[in-house]
Amino acid sequence: MKQALDVRVLTLFPGMFETLTGHSIVKRAIEKGALTVRAHDLREYTHDRHRTADDRPFGGGPGMLMKPEPIFEAMDDLMPGFRKTKTRRFVYLTPQGEPYTQRKAEELAQCRQIVLLCGHYEGVDQRAVDRYATDEISIGDYVLTGGELPAMVLIDSVARLLPGTLGCAQSKEFESFSGDLLEYPQYTRPAEYRGLKVPPVLLSGNHQAIEAWRRQQSLERTRTRRPDLLAKAPDRGVKAKRGKEKGTCIRCSESSKKNK
Ligand code: ADE
Repeated sequence: MKQALDVRVLTLFPGMFETLTGHSIVKRAIEKGALTVRAHDLREYTHDRHRTADDRPFGGGPGMLMKPEPIFEAMDDLMPGFRKTKTRRFVYLTPQGEPYTQRKAEELAQCRQIVLLCGHYEGVDQRAVDRYATDEISIGDYVLTGGELPAMVLIDSVARLLPGTLGCAQSKEFESFSGDLLEYPQYTRPAEYRGLKVPPVLLSGNHQAIEAWRRQQSLERTRTRRPDLLAKAPDRGVKAKRGKEKGTCIRCSESSKKNK
């Protein structure tokens, strides 16, 4: 088994991460030894009576900034001699960051260690970002009250890509998104419920017809809901769907045919 991905979170609210690590796929990834997640309380690295972690910005302006000292001291204490490398990342979650994508999740899933800095208030003193950050990531064009939820989004999306975390059958699903086409609609039993019928082709047993229907649905959905995806890479979806039929799962190297 590959070494576990070591995720460290620097936060003012470490308790928020207990929900994430105690449930579902992330919990399973931890139990299987593919992932460790440790949330460190930045207030442990403050020294005044009020455990102050923020201050007013020099030059004026609204709001408060996270002070640099607790971040530097936490890094000195927890990861002395931290060096930025391709596989040791320090990610600052911020609305000013690069937009988060499945491709970025795949890149981060290859790392050995990821430190996540969760900002609060109006942001973080730039010196801490300059010293440590290898990546600045935004999970979307909206402003949250802090970086904890974005950090959890990142951990969740990376955890499901770690070897052994998902079955291969599920891995195939993300391959289709990686190909920039949206997923086709899916149905399960019963075949008819309150008069609502499953599309007959899915009950036909004709696998070629099913694949063709799914592909057409994927293209149609992508065209109507996310035309930007098609515009970015017009031939991507075609390749991804072919890969899905007879490809190899990029995470576990199992032939996807085995799961048919
Ligand atoms: N912190 C606050 N809002 C954020 C966002 N949209 N993405 C990442 N970090 C954030």
